[in-house]
Amino acid sequence: SDLPYSDYIRSRIRTVPDWPLPGVQFRDITPLLQDKKTFRVLVDIFVHRYMDQQLDLVAGVDARGFILGAVIAYELNLGFVPVRKKGKLPFTTIAEEYELEYGSATVELHADACQPGQRVLLIDDLVATGGTMIAAAKLLQRIGAEVVEAAAIVDLPELGGSKLVREQGIKLFTVCD
Ligand code: PRP
Ligand code: ADE
Repeated sequence: SDLPYSDYIRSRIRTVPDWPLPGVQFRDITPLLQDKKTFRVLVDIFVHRYMDQQLDLVAGVDARGFILGAVIAYELNLGFVPVRKKGKLPFTTIAEEYELEYGSATVELHADACQPGQRVLLIDDLVATGGTMIAAAKLLQRIGAEVVEAAAIVDLPELGGSKLVREQGIKLFTVCD
């Protein structure tokens, strides 16, 4: 395809109206993951962006951030740490509560997920209100990580989240909006 990569990726994201609640335009990334070619193009965008950034670790956000984050970590020859929804991690955890486009939630991180000063890439699939990405970055920073960049496939700029993330001093990269 001769499409710019952002248009190519966007072409495989399905918008489902009124899911899970009326008024929400849900961006469904499953067609993008299902297609071997768009999945590879997507992963390669991130791998090329971060391969020379001297990263130490990739963190991925429960649940859709796990799919991409783990593959990117593997391809960069780095370890992976999960930022999980409340109550899922078995060891000593730290927690951050935040507001979502539809409800509120708490994310948790193992207290030993990284060492102070480690350079961490934070991955999720999408930035809506930004609450999830900001909470995840705070968790990593609380245990001393340097969040080199937060990255997602999709930005929904009309929800203002990407602006909020950047206002928190967190660098943010997204593939398309
Ligand atoms: C979605 C999405 C992001 C978050 C973005 O996850 O995968 O993690 O919402 O929204 P925000 O920018 O407003 O915080 P969700 O909480 O729906 O969980 P899931 O991955 O388990 O579906
Ligand atoms: N998470 C929060 N808002 C979302 C949306 N509109 N589509 C997909 N995931 C989301």
